[in-house]
Amino acid sequence: MERLKITQGDITQCQVDAIVNAANTSLLGGGGVDGAIHRAAGPELLAECRTLGGCPTGEAKATKAYRLPCRYVIHTPGPIWHGGTADENRLLASCYRNCLAQASALGCKTVAFPSISTGVYHFPVAHAARIAIDTIQAYLQTHDEITCVTMVCFDAATLAAYQQALEETEPKHA
Ligand code: APR
Repeated sequence: MERLKITQGDITQCQVDAIVNAANTSLLGGGGVDGAIHRAAGPELLAECRTLGGCPTGEAKATKAYRLPCRYVIHTPGPIWHGGTADENRLLASCYRNCLAQASALGCKTVAFPSISTGVYHFPVAHAARIAIDTIQAYLQTHDEITCVTMVCFDAATLAAYQQALEETEPKHA
């Protein structure tokens, strides 16, 4: 499905309509991709985030992008991995689905995601990649207003995991 791409890079440089931020429930910044996005966007991003009153895990809230080369930042707190028995799978799928729903509502056509929850939140990356790819593909099948979703992987191991997950979902050539 050409509408889903897997790349390696820095999401703060993506020139798409919306980039997704792997945030925490306070929405007040942090390390990892959250820190990178806030650094690149500048202080107005945090100022707008302060007005949002946080965000529950699995849900998504959008802000302007300020100094970033995109139109919106969609913030979503992913689940912290606790071994897989605390509803982590459903919550991670909700992050992807709710971010795409926000993007559609904002009239976005192109969206870039980081690998949500697989850093500080320790969600196993191969497992997270399957959930991400399956959820994005399911959404794209019923939402042709989104023309391209890009998974932006920061390192080679993450890139390989998402490429593997995408290959596993492609129809096998008879
Ligand atoms: N571009 C793309 N991906 C990035 C970038 C970047 N500039 N920087 C880091 N990443 C990748 C990480 O390598 C990892 O694969 O984003 C993925 C998610 O890792 P984290 O940023 O640690 O996010 P997460 O695991 O969801 O933990 C969220 O960390 O930064 C805090 O405030 C955040 O408390 C929240 C928690």
